[in-house]
Amino acid sequence: MLESAMKGAREAGAEVEMVHLYGLNYKGCMSCFLCKRKGNTANGLCGFKDELQAVLERVVDADVLVVGSPVYDSFPSAMTRAFIERLVFPAVNYNDYSKPLIRKPLRCATIYTMNCSEDLMKPLHYDILLGESAKVLSIFGHETEMLCSHETYQFNDYSKYETAVDEPTRARIRETRFPQDLQKAYDLGKRLVQQCLADMEPH
Ligand SMILES: Cc1cc2nc3c(=O)[nH]c(=O)nc-3n(C[C@H](O)[C@H](O)[C@H](O)COP(=O)(O)O)c2cc1C
Repeated sequence: MLESAMKGAREAGAEVEMVHLYGLNYKGCMSCFLCKRKGNTANGLCGFKDELQAVLERVVDADVLVVGSPVYDSFPSAMTRAFIERLVFPAVNYNDYSKPLIRKPLRCATIYTMNCSEDLMKPLHYDILLGESAKVLSIFGHETEMLCSHETYQFNDYSKYETAVDEPTRARIRETRFPQDLQKAYDLGKRLVQQCLADMEPH
């Protein structure tokens, strides 16, 4: 899904980069409050030095951020949550919540993959649980878009796993609906970049 979003962004003229959070050694926020210290020069950036810091630096200088995560236990993955904490909390201005500490606007989107069907989103409150996780990114100045891919094909060989999920149904979804999800991700990446380019045009 992220690769499709990147392709759309690239074709709209953007320079793109994929970061695999699982490849980095980092933690979530530890309340060091370096970002809230008087006289700090962090300028809205997390001050904790680990492998995430350079990524955060690039994110706040970017125009678009697309975060992709599987849904784990009804939430974005822990690594995704940790990333969002480290990105968003330093931008929160404790003196004035209405004036976030951002260097420039950042258009954000989240992409979630999950076992759950679209019909169950509301009954399981995923619209709120996932929607709120996305919404915190709106601190960077734009409403955050959210895209979900449902009923994913989870195993390479279903015969090896304990599951009541019907493999042929999932295989059909992968053949028919998943390409549409990929197209939506492509369109999302393209649209976000086009919106940025439109913002840059003189009015
Ligand atoms: C630890 C764990 C927890 C999960 N919890 C949920 C869940 O609460 N709801 C859901 O719909 N799917 C859940 N899943 C399924 C994953 O969201 C699904 O397999 C997803 O497609 C994985 O993403 P990927 O295909 O991009 O790797 C869970 C999977 C794992 C491994």
